[in-house]
Amino acid sequence: MKTYDKFLKYYDEIVRGVNSPLEEEVEFLIEDVINEHKPDTKNILETACWTGVIAREIIKKWYSVTWLDMSENMLKMAEVNLKTSPLTPLLRRRGGGQKKDAGLVLADMTDFDLEETFDTVLCNYNSICHLLKWEDWVKFIEMANKHLEKDGLFVFDINTLYEFENITKDFAQFYTFWDDNVCLEMFKVGWYFEWLVKIYEKSDDGRFDLTTEVVRENSFPISKIEKELKQQGFKVLEKIDYHYGEVTAKSERVYFICKKK
Ligand SMILES: C[S@@+](CC[C@H](N)C(=O)[O-])C[C@H]1O[C@@H](n2cnc3c(N)ncnc32)[C@H](O)[C@@H]1O
Repeated sequence: MKTYDKFLKYYDEIVRGVNSPLEEEVEFLIEDVINEHKPDTKNILETACWTGVIAREIIKKWYSVTWLDMSENMLKMAEVNLKTSPLTPLLRRRGGGQKKDAGLVLADMTDFDLEETFDTVLCNYNSICHLLKWEDWVKFIEMANKHLEKDGLFVFDINTLYEFENITKDFAQFYTFWDDNVCLEMFKVGWYFEWLVKIYEKSDDGRFDLTTEVVRENSFPISKIEKELKQQGFKVLEKIDYHYGEVTAKSERVYFICKKK
């Protein structure tokens, strides 16, 4: 079953246009997270970088960003995003004599070795939830640890179990983009959750072609994640409910802001 193949085309419109506008999230990451907890950040590793929508924005703040994803398709789009960025001349100027300013890495975030360390490691928009097994969450935390400087910042967010359970009880979500219709439904499939994505694309003869894709996700209790972070030597500086600030049993999306001790 395909994942993010055609859905890629609509995802940013849904996530960044409707659910969580990009400008707000970038401002939150820069002002409330990096400037607050690691203002001397110079280089950032963004894991599960998708098409580079976040990296493309944060690099404007004179950060050097390495973009990592396991999907070649995503990285190709990230490369286009990077090349068409108004920053390209700036990047070229910054290139001379410095370490690379933007690097694209095709890798699995549970197992990679870049042979360098970063001031900040990011994993944004509940991308960690794409790791279905707890042992992979543990491995990803290990990878972040390995690639961080001492005192480095590790920032990621999750969709909580509460949120996933709620979505499975919700009605399907419908979106219309251009002439196409997208329908999203979430189901609990045993021990993980699955988005069923139905895309109805209008063809030249006016008929609609249906494509079905799935996106699998999972989550774990906040206390379990926090315990693992501490066991691996991180200090959890803050947990933030992205919508309401204070984390409660009904939080839907939670950011973990951690420091490598
Ligand atoms: C929800 S999208 C990322 C959204 C993006 N970070 C943002 O802020 O809008 C999830 C991404 O995770 C990537 N991904 C899933 N599993 C991965 C893994 N094991 N290693 C690296 N990337 C992975 C997918 O290819 C996809 O690009």
